[in-house]
Amino acid sequence: MSSHSFTPRLTLHDLRKLAATRKLAMLTCYDAGFAATLDAAGVDLILIGDSLGMVVQGHDSTLPVKVEHVAYHTACVARGAARPWIVADMPFGSFQASPEQAFGNAVTLMQAGSQMVKIEGGAEMAPTVEFLVRRGIPVCAHVGLTPQHVNVFGGYRVQGRGADAVDRLHAAAQSLQDAGAAMMVIEAVPEPVARALAQSLQLITIGIGASVACTAQVLVLHDMLGAGTGKRPRFVKSFMAGGSKTGGYLGDISDKSGDEQFAYDNLMDGTILHGSPDTVLRKIEEFKAVGTTSLMLHYPPYYGTEKARRSLRLFAEKVMPQFRD
Ligand code: KIV
Repeated sequence: MSSHSFTPRLTLHDLRKLAATRKLAMLTCYDAGFAATLDAAGVDLILIGDSLGMVVQGHDSTLPVKVEHVAYHTACVARGAARPWIVADMPFGSFQASPEQAFGNAVTLMQAGSQMVKIEGGAEMAPTVEFLVRRGIPVCAHVGLTPQHVNVFGGYRVQGRGADAVDRLHAAAQSLQDAGAAMMVIEAVPEPVARALAQSLQLITIGIGASVACTAQVLVLHDMLGAGTGKRPRFVKSFMAGGSKTGGYLGDISDKSGDEQFAYDNLMDGTILHGSPDTVLRKIEEFKAVGTTSLMLHYPPYYGTEKARRSLRLFAEKVMPQFRD
């Protein structure tokens, strides 16, 4: 008889309960390796955003992304992450024509491994939201700066400025909620407007360039890591304050890849804490003694889910309790 440890995936019910106690964390992700890393880091929701058109495919907008691209990346993420709720973005042209068109394409994304689809747009999308929800497809709405409207907006511009725009935003959000949307991304809206919106809605609100009053915050993973093509929407720069270390680490590797310190044994012994709980404990003590203040847990994809879970459990049960203070 074999025994499997099994991490259940978060449900909408779990997320609502969690949201009553703390903020939820959401990031975009497009592959299994990062999905496993985000899962181990405790990220609650993963979005396979059509931002993949910009940060993965290198386009200057999200418009060229197709349903099959999102489905492919959704399947990769679903294989890598066990616990997070997975939201797949419906790309430009895949849902606007009719509720029936939206349903067909949403089914493709749900069958690829998502638990919810996200659609951009205002009150005009309410009938589509209702059509999907009634047929078993949870929907995350997306208001404010909706990048698929970049050519109508004339650029990636903050939305919800001026009394009329604020009224339209509130009316749109209310109609999407009434239609059954369970979550709503509020993107690039002035803080007081986003705050008022978040406070007036009952669903889970997800801010990006909006307000900390939202239930959750989302960031594009590549923007957060500073791993960009330089074609980011301008407002995202505000999340880059302090910069990212990713470029620095990669710079180190390209400068020093001939150095002795990159020999495998040195790398394993000097920088990677691996081994039994006792060995890891001893190594952490050594790192602490020279002033190290933080650790990052990473299990390489070749470990597979079972081994990564086993290692994580050992770390939580045998190592972490020794460092409670
Ligand atoms: O496509 C995407 O990644 C998004 C987020 C920025 C919310 O829609």
